[in-house]
Amino acid sequence: MNKKRSKAIERLIETAVQAQKRAYCPYSRYSVGAAVLTETGRVFAGCNVENASYGLSMCAERVAIYHAVTSGHDSIVAACVVGTAAKPCGACRQVMLEFSDKDTQLYLVDLNPSTGRRSVVKTTVFKMLPMAFDPLASGLLPQNPRNLLKRKAAARGRKKSQRARSRRN
Ligand code: THU
Repeated sequence: MNKKRSKAIERLIETAVQAQKRAYCPYSRYSVGAAVLTETGRVFAGCNVENASYGLSMCAERVAIYHAVTSGHDSIVAACVVGTAAKPCGACRQVMLEFSDKDTQLYLVDLNPSTGRRSVVKTTVFKMLPMAFDPLASGLLPQNPRNLLKRKAAARGRKKSQRARSRRN
């Protein structure tokens, strides 16, 4: 791993460790922190956010991914999850896969809150979800979904200028 990349991974892990402290988990008392490193070098954090209506609770990993996507970054080169025996649940694995490629790294940080000792296991998002429902193989997504989104935005732009033209005429 080159120096720049290992610095980014350090930043990724530290962000997830800090995010765990902000978990809102009064029901399970199981706090989770997560972070994702995007293709553009940005790091986005997430923590689990629970609700009195239990089923509305959201995992830390999905919060981190939605945070990145909301900020315009939808390509993930590495992700990290921090907790006691932390491992992303099945739903989070599927959501991670949507924004990952075959090489996207996944760091599982088992953090003991009382001693502060941590152990890190490195794997990949794809390895964690074998035989996944693949948005590309299923034909639901084109090879580069951004092209599709760009085409949609361009079509919206064309429609808007058509409407403006017809208002002028
Ligand atoms: N949780 C996560 O945040 N990530 C996971 O991958 C597994 C579970 C959260 C959801 C809930 O707030 C708490 O941990 C107990 O399940």
